[in-house]
Amino acid sequence: MIGAPVFIDRISKAYGSQTAVSDVTLDIPAGEFLSILGPSGSGKTTLLTMIAGFESPSAGRLVIGGRDVTAVSPDRRNIGMVFQRYALFPHLTVAENIAFPLKMRGIGKDLRAERVKRALDLVQLPDYARRYPHELSGGQQQRVAVARAIVFEPPVLLMDEPLGALDKKLRESMQIEIKQLQQRLGATVIYVTHDQEEALTMSDRIAVMAKGKIAQLGSPADIYRNPQTAFVADFIGKMNFLRGEFLGETAGSQAIKLDENVVFHTPSAVSGYDGAARIGGRVRLALRPERLGLAARGAGGKNALPGRIETSVFAGSFDLHLVRADFGSHDILQVQTPADGMQAPFVKGTLVDVVAEQDGLRLFADVEA
Ligand SMILES: Nc1ncnc2c1ncn2[C@@H]1O[C@H](COP(=O)(O)OP(=O)(O)O)[C@@H](O)[C@H]1O
Ligand SMILES: [Mg+2]
Repeated sequence: MIGAPVFIDRISKAYGSQTAVSDVTLDIPAGEFLSILGPSGSGKTTLLTMIAGFESPSAGRLVIGGRDVTAVSPDRRNIGMVFQRYALFPHLTVAENIAFPLKMRGIGKDLRAERVKRALDLVQLPDYARRYPHELSGGQQQRVAVARAIVFEPPVLLMDEPLGALDKKLRESMQIEIKQLQQRLGATVIYVTHDQEEALTMSDRIAVMAKGKIAQLGSPADIYRNPQTAFVADFIGKMNFLRGEFLGETAGSQAIKLDENVVFHTPSAVSGYDGAARIGGRVRLALRPERLGLAARGAGGKNALPGRIETSVFAGSFDLHLVRADFGSHDILQVQTPADGMQAPFVKGTLVDVVAEQDGLRLFADVEA
């Protein structure tokens, strides 16, 4: 199987007066694993359904493998799909389910049997050919759905929250299986999820969707480290936000007043906020929990954020501290420190300084305020 490039060219979809997808452009190279990530209602399924051909766009066009398929029916697009609503046929065995797309394509019995066997091996269910869907667990059914989607070696594979119904452990092992499968097959995969961890671990690139539009497109690391908006920063990973007033910029440093006594400085280079003409503007300072550390009160240096411990808990691979800010509106800051046994456990009420790594910060205009 060889992947095909997919070009989504200024596609929109309106249902009556409501716009579900608004002017989306995505240029997806052959063999890429692209995730479409966004909250419920952001237009992910609508976009995927248009790529599959079950809905036609109100505007724009779709090019797959260099061919304009905007007006081509779904069965002629040669796309594999795992959609929630596109369930297994309950009255067919596992083998018959997987053979179905081959039968539709007029592939002979012997070749069918061979391909079904190979697909079952790939999803690691070699002994389940004769079972019926109701005799399988949820995870096994999903694997059969994946086998059915890949059995005809489609150059493009669409998946809409295929692991949504599974428990965490199974979901994580299926994520690895799907990713490995895709790498082995070379297919172009467009994968819809609302689970940011899933998108971060599986994707070559992530398109974050909000309100029918692409909010940001980039590699997982890029989106995590350089979110372009507060929405993306908040949606991907854990993020602390502090509101403040932008005081100005001097010598590569931006000053943010968090309250009468606390002024915080961020390096201009990493903040991502163009504040030149916005002195006095309301801003949101974004800090990743794992880029924060704790020091005794007064020992955190000039740029420390004073707070007091609410709780301090062991969370497996790290310690999680909830720190009540001693300034502003006294928000809770989440601080994650490595669980290496070096940090004393903090009792509630301990006065601390929260110290931020200078390159782990973002600054956004406070548009919601
Ligand atoms: N067939 C439809 N008719 C009317 N509105 C729809 C239809 N399908 C989706 N929508 C609306 O379009 C928006 C995007 O929906 P959807 O693509 O399902 O989002 P997501 O998959 O990100 O949860 C939602 O507001 C939804 O209510
Ligand atoms: Mg959906």
